[in-house]
Amino acid sequence: ELPLSLGIVDAFEKEGLRIFGPRKSSAWIESSKVRAKQFMSDHHIPTARSKSFDQVGEALEYASRHPLPLVIKADGLAAGKGVIIAQNVEETRQAILQIMEKRVFGSAGDQIVIEEFLTGQEATVMVFADGQEFREMPASQDHKRVEDGDQGANTGGMGAYAPAPVVNRGIREQVLQKIIQPTLKGLAEQDDPYQGILYFGLMISPEGPRVLEFNCRFGDPEAQVILPLLDSDLVDIFEAVVERRLDQAPVRWKEGSTICVVLTSGGYPGPYPRGIPIQGLEKDPDLDSVILFHAGTAQREDSVVTDGGRVLGVTALGTDLKEARQLAYQEIEGIHFDGMHYRKDIGVRALPD
Ligand code: AMP
Ligand code: GLY
Repeated sequence: ELPLSLGIVDAFEKEGLRIFGPRKSSAWIESSKVRAKQFMSDHHIPTARSKSFDQVGEALEYASRHPLPLVIKADGLAAGKGVIIAQNVEETRQAILQIMEKRVFGSAGDQIVIEEFLTGQEATVMVFADGQEFREMPASQDHKRVEDGDQGANTGGMGAYAPAPVVNRGIREQVLQKIIQPTLKGLAEQDDPYQGILYFGLMISPEGPRVLEFNCRFGDPEAQVILPLLDSDLVDIFEAVVERRLDQAPVRWKEGSTICVVLTSGGYPGPYPRGIPIQGLEKDPDLDSVILFHAGTAQREDSVVTDGGRVLGVTALGTDLKEARQLAYQEIEGIHFDGMHYRKDIGVRALPD
């Protein structure tokens, strides 16, 4: 998101080079939460009720008058850490002061959004968009908390699965009509229609789907579970988007289910060590059913070592979610590094009873 928001697409186009993704004039949809909320309000797109602030005093005063929990969001990009769910008055005050006064996210905290806390299941729907046409991808579900049962700190994502049954036929229709279509229509009213991937982070609340956030790119780890389900050529789709002829490109999806379990360094999302040797990568998995995505790894002489918080995304494709889970967790049994952590319950919620 950072290169996109800084205008990498514009820079490439200026040099006559081909590139896939939204221009700077559209990437604000992820890089400014204040602007994204204003856009949703202007276009009647369902989202949590909220108000934006650039003054600490006004933010504190507003927070004191609204029911808890409250969600405090830094306006700008904060590497997935800029959202704080405050459970009590003191946490709310601290969140506002940390972002706006202590500037823990730098200029991303010039403004904040304070919004109501929504309940329900989260889901992700992404689309390919060429400025006129769009194609939906299967719905997926990320697991943001670090521990099983959605406990512990928020992370960049501990695992995902697709398709996510919470987005059933009825919900999908609502997402399409009340969220995806009005968003793309609203963006098309700008001078510069949106080309690239648009990510809708949703809460499937009891009142219906609500937008939590937009991203101007694939989700991580959502991409790891969506791409193995793609039965068409991704490059053909990218080219069709760039040339604004998505209506002519085949975008087909496979049957079956995918799951990605993220193996993290001990300590993540807090401080963690790097350079720890990873055992069990020698055997090439059967790529038709298991893919190991290297996220935070590095090559040191002849061994592969950890080099990030989220180290590997162990991804499996099965005829159903149960089989995909078995394949992924079986693969993980053969992999080890000191401090390795992962969630044992990715996709459990979507298993049939
Ligand atoms: P965001 O970056 O805006 O998607 O927020 C990150 C995470 O915070 C989301 O995936 C949710 O888990 C949580 N979150 C954000 N906004 C809300 C809200 N209004 N109500 C409940 N949870 C939220
Ligand atoms: N998985 C959420 C994101 O990529 O922002």
